Amino acid sequence: MFKVNPYRPGAGLMPMYLAGRDEDISNIEQMFMASTMNVPTQSVIFSGLRGVGKTVLLNKLQKIAEDMDIFCRHIEIEERNDFISQIATCSQAFLRKVSAKEKFKHLIQKPLDAIKSLVVSFDPNDSTFSLSLQDRELYQSANLTQSLMEVFTTIGETAFKSETPICFFIDEIQYMKEAELGALIAALHRTNQLGYPVMVVGAGLPKIYKMLSDEKSYSERLFLYEEIGTLTEGQSRKAIVEPAKRFGISYTDEAIDEIIRITKGYPFFIQQLCQIVYNNMKNEMIVRSDIEDSIPAFFKVLDTGFFKVRYERCSEGDKKFIFAMVRCGELPCTVSNIARQLDKNVKQISPTRAQLINKGIIYPVRHSELDFTVPEFSGFIQRTSEYVQWDEEESI
Ligand SMILES: Nc1ncnc2c1ncn2[C@@H]1O[C@H](COP(=O)(O)OP(=O)(O)OP(=O)(O)O)[C@@H](O)[C@H]1O
Ligand SMILES: [Mg+2]
Repeated sequence: MFKVNPYRPGAGLMPMYLAGRDEDISNIEQMFMASTMNVPTQSVIFSGLRGVGKTVLLNKLQKIAEDMDIFCRHIEIEERNDFISQIATCSQAFLRKVSAKEKFKHLIQKPLDAIKSLVVSFDPNDSTFSLSLQDRELYQSANLTQSLMEVFTTIGETAFKSETPICFFIDEIQYMKEAELGALIAALHRTNQLGYPVMVVGAGLPKIYKMLSDEKSYSERLFLYEEIGTLTEGQSRKAIVEPAKRFGISYTDEAIDEIIRITKGYPFFIQQLCQIVYNNMKNEMIVRSDIEDSIPAFFKVLDTGFFKVRYERCSEGDKKFIFAMVRCGELPCTVSNIARQLDKNVKQISPTRAQLINKGIIYPVRHSELDFTVPEFSGFIQRTSEYVQWDEEESI
């Protein structure tokens, strides 16, 4: 029989009950409020591991901002990055909205020219603006930072004058190119100095904190940084219990404790395990044995999905590096320890290290230590036959 399952494991899928993010939400709500009063505010960056709930939080905040009549756009940076084209499209959409009101039509030309210049100069594939050769020369710019700053300050001015604040929600920020990230920070900074209501709420893997401060030291003041982590015991309990409640299903305390023990409070794992448990439950009260019976299926789903998609993006060299990390025993582990496991020196392994960071599989923790961006990844690696084989060969 088809059962409505209230759990939603999956990238960016809004859970039926969003647990434990109340404080973040209410803080940012205040910032949105300021923005609607034409008071410029800080921008916000959420960082956290895979599956911890960054996208869901971003989407929730976007909904709140939209309800406050803030002009919002969601941008997802992909590995084959097209940030410039996305920011240009979103800025044009903003101008369209403003120009719908006759009295603001005169505020459009300046920002439109800035967008044109950005696109013509830095988005070679774009065909939005077909310009004559002479016009092209007029709009051509060689400096990305200047160009993006021009877009932000001019749309900012329009936002201010038309009292339509802007918020861009940018997900997977870690995939931005260095130059683009630097330009974005500088553009936001300048817009902020001028007192215009343009905000960014961004999210990405833990390495973004370092990326931002490496790019511009003042970025630490420009952004409010929030680390998104696992749910506490109380929050996990709610994430488990609340979705099932409205269908008349409950859990014993023992069952809840077991779910928390296995998932360690990671939101994605909670959704995944509870979905399986819910499908397999025998009656309206879920008990500990229901959880235990579902564990093999839970790991199977993770191993063939969540973990595997990340693992398959690794080259042979990447995999050896990952195996060596796992072999270090404790995570985070030092780069020198990894090198030792591979019988190499630190310099020799640094290209692979950089590559894995770029792919978003690992991230630097503190000074010269590394960890996986995917929670519980080392357990998965230990279960793979390739690792077992490698480990045996290395032990000889
Ligand atoms: N606060 C929460 N309470 C309950 N479930 C949540 C919460 N946050 C996220 N989830 C669930 O966790 C899963 C992962 O969420 P999401 O895709 O937002 O994570 P993410 O941090 O963006 O991951 P990634 O880094 O892979 O993009 C989803 O199934 C979502 O429903
Ligand atoms: Mg996400």
